[in-house]
Amino acid sequence: MANQDKINELIEKRAVARLGGGEKRIESQHNKGKLTARERIEMFLDEGSFEEFDMFVTHRCTNFGLEKTKFLGDGVVTGHGTVDGRVVYVFSQDFTVFGGSLSETFAQKICKVMDMAMKVGAPVIGINDSGGARIQEGVTSLAGYAEIFQRNIMASGVIPQISAVFGPCAGGAVYSPALTDFVMMTDKTSYMFVTGPKVVKTVTGEDISTEDLGGASVHASKSGVSHFLAEDEQEGILILRKLLTYLPQNNLEEPPVTPCSDPIDRIDDILNDIIPENPNHPYNVKDVIYSLVDSQEFLEVHRNYAKNIIVGFAKFNGVPTGIIANQPNYLAGVLDIEASRKAARFVRFCDAFNIQILTLVDVPGFLPGSGQEYGGIIIHGAKLMFAYGEATVPKITVTLRKSYGGAHDVMSCKQLRGDFNYAWPTAEIAVMGAAGAIEVLEGRTLAGMTDPEEKAKLKMEKEAEYKEKFANPYQAAAYGYIDDIIEPRNSRFRIIRGFESLSTKKLSNPPKKHSNIPL
Ligand code: HXC
Repeated sequence: MANQDKINELIEKRAVARLGGGEKRIESQHNKGKLTARERIEMFLDEGSFEEFDMFVTHRCTNFGLEKTKFLGDGVVTGHGTVDGRVVYVFSQDFTVFGGSLSETFAQKICKVMDMAMKVGAPVIGINDSGGARIQEGVTSLAGYAEIFQRNIMASGVIPQISAVFGPCAGGAVYSPALTDFVMMTDKTSYMFVTGPKVVKTVTGEDISTEDLGGASVHASKSGVSHFLAEDEQEGILILRKLLTYLPQNNLEEPPVTPCSDPIDRIDDILNDIIPENPNHPYNVKDVIYSLVDSQEFLEVHRNYAKNIIVGFAKFNGVPTGIIANQPNYLAGVLDIEASRKAARFVRFCDAFNIQILTLVDVPGFLPGSGQEYGGIIIHGAKLMFAYGEATVPKITVTLRKSYGGAHDVMSCKQLRGDFNYAWPTAEIAVMGAAGAIEVLEGRTLAGMTDPEEKAKLKMEKEAEYKEKFANPYQAAAYGYIDDIIEPRNSRFRIIRGFESLSTKKLSNPPKKHSNIPL
C-alpha cells in the first residue's frame, strides 16, 4: 500500500470513528434534544484544543454475537484539551454506541484519562450519557466500573473532578459522579437513580416516573446529589467552564487569580441599612454577597437545595473565594441536617483546593424537633463543625446579625480557627435568643405568677435586659472573640485587606492517616 493510501485509510477510519454509532443514531440523539459526545466536547473545550486518545479501541466481547458489532472508540470519547488556556482531561460517553453502555475497554479508556490527569495534575471532567453496564459483557463491565471508582477515590482532593450528567445514569454507574466534587444535570433530559422505576414498582409497589424518581430537579432540590441544574446542555457547559475559573489545577496549586476592575475600597451604603430593625424580619443575604464580591459575580452551588444556607464561589480582588452564608430569607437561616451537610461538603472542597473561605453569619440556631434529632442533626451539625475546624485555608467570618448557641460555634467562630472574625454593629452573639433565655432563667418565677398582665410585663422587662446585655457584638468583642466591629458599608475593603494579609498563612494539622469526620 502506498503511503498516501495508508494516510487515506487513516483519514477514513477517523471519519468512521467520529460518526460513533452512525448517522441514524446521531439523529435520534438530536431528536431527544441532546448533543453527541463529540459535540459536547467541542463546545466545552477551547476551539481546536482537543487531542483525542484511543479512537481505535474496540471491545473484545464475544458474548451474544457481539464480536460482529464493533464501533471504533467503543462508545466513549476521551482525551485532553484546554479551557481558557488551562489543561483539562475529558471523557464523554457516546449514547449512539450501545447506548453509551460501559464495557471493559470503555472503562480502560476512562481510566487512562484519569491516570494522565493525576500524572500532570489537571482536572477531569466526565460527561455521562449511558445505559450503564454493557449487559453482554457481564462482570468485566462491573470490574471496569470499580476501576473507575477506585481512581475517583484516589483523585479526590488531588485534582478537581466534575461530572456532567446529560442523559441516563443508572445503577451502580451513579457512584462515579457521586464520588466526584461536583455534579451537573440538565433539566428534563438527564436522570440518575440506583434502581429505575420498573424495579421500584416490582420491589415496593411504588408507581413513579423516571423524572420524579431521579430527574435533574429532584436531585437539585430534594436529594442534593446534583450541585448545578442547567436548562440545557449549552447552559450546562457554560456553568462548567465558569466553575473551572475558580479552581486550581490540583491541590498543590493556588486557584487562578485574575485582574480585578472593581475598586477594592468600594463603599456600599446600602449595607448600612440592609439589616431590618425588627430582628425577626428577613432579608436576602445574597444582596450582601453581591454587594461585597468583585463585579457582583457569584456562582452559586446547590442553589435549589437547603436554601437556608447559601454556598458558592466569587472573587475578592481577583482571588477565588468560597462563600458560606446563612440565608435569613429561608427558614430564618436556621441550621438543619441538609444545610449542615451542604455547607460541610463545600467547606471541605475549598480547603482541599486552597480556596479561601468567607463566612457570613446570621443564624438563629439549630432547627429543634424530633424530626431533626431522629435524622441525626447531632452528627450532621458535627460535620460542619469538623469541616471548619479542620480547614487550614484563610478564613474570615463576618457576623451580620444573629449568632446563637451551638450554631455560633459551628459557623467558623474564633475558636474553630477563624482567622479574622468581624461583626457588624447589628450582630447579636449569645447562647440563645431573648425569649428562650428568659423562659429558662425566669421559668420558675413566671410559672408562679397568676396575673397574665404582670407575667407579660416581667417577661418583657427581663427580655429587654437580656437584649441590652447580649443582643450586640460588644460582649464577644470584649473577650477578643470578635477581632473588630466594622461598619457594614466598609466590609468589602476589610475583607479584601484581611485576605491579603492572610495570603501567606501557614497552618497544618497533625500527621495522621486521615481524620474520622462524623459521616
Ligand atoms: C448494552 C445497551 C444498554 C446496556 C442500552 N443499550 N443500554 N446495550 N448494555 N446496558 C442499547 C440498546 O440495546 C439500544 O441498542 C441502544 O443502546 C439504545 O437504547 P434504547 O433502549 O433504544 O434507548 P432509550 O429508549 O433511550 O432507553 C435508554 C435506556 C434503556 C433507558 C438507558 O436503554 C435502558 O433501560 N437500558 C438498560 C439500562 C440498565 O438496566 N443498565 C444496567 C444497569 S445496572 P440498539 O442496537 O437497539 O440501538 C448497571 C450496573 C453498574 O449499570 C454497576 C456498577 C457498579
